[in-house]
Amino acid sequence: MTGTERFVGELARQNKAFWVGRDARLDPQAPPETLLSQIRYRMRQGVYNELRSVELIAAWIPWVPEREIRDLLPRQLEDEQRHYQLLRRRLKELGEDSDAYEALPEWQALFDWLVACRHRPTVEKLAMFQFAGETQSCEGFETLIRLARDLDPETAELYRTQILPDEYRHAAIGRQALLLLADTPERQAQAREACREMNLKVFGAYQAHRSRADRGV
Ligand SMILES: [Fe+2]
Ligand SMILES: [Fe+2]
Repeated sequence: MTGTERFVGELARQNKAFWVGRDARLDPQAPPETLLSQIRYRMRQGVYNELRSVELIAAWIPWVPEREIRDLLPRQLEDEQRHYQLLRRRLKELGEDSDAYEALPEWQALFDWLVACRHRPTVEKLAMFQFAGETQSCEGFETLIRLARDLDPETAELYRTQILPDEYRHAAIGRQALLLLADTPERQAQAREACREMNLKVFGAYQAHRSRADRGV
């Protein structure tokens, strides 16, 4: 195992440890009707997040000069666009107009910040979004699928078969970028700090998300 591989494994463990008990968006202990409304809220916000992910990847592509990594991003952009359409359509089937949903300011701010990070080095950008963010998304989707299975099996199946496999691939792009680029102590420090920044911002968005979902607005 190389030093870079050891570093990437260790950073993945640190991120995982950060997230233990911190994804407040769904409450597994809540009564079924509360849980279902939390799942619906996740879906509404999810439509927005997928669409902003398309915008984010589009903004980053010109600022990723490393071809091995840049070549992987157009497919991710297409995936996020497909996820946006799938979730929007599913909400429509459930009688909701997701276009009328006003995204939470904290999520808007998170994506605005990520778009503005396009000028930062690739090792930092991909540590943030793909390595830290998308890995946490996969964990979040696993939980969502498990909790939605009995309450809304069709939605759970949509996430399990049409979205989650892509998100694992996106997280793997982050890992690949770090294995390629985080090969000096300086770059490793940059990647670690980028993950820390991202995790704290996402955690803030999760808390705001849950408190707004609880208020039902
Ligand atoms: Fe996605
Ligand atoms: Fe993704």
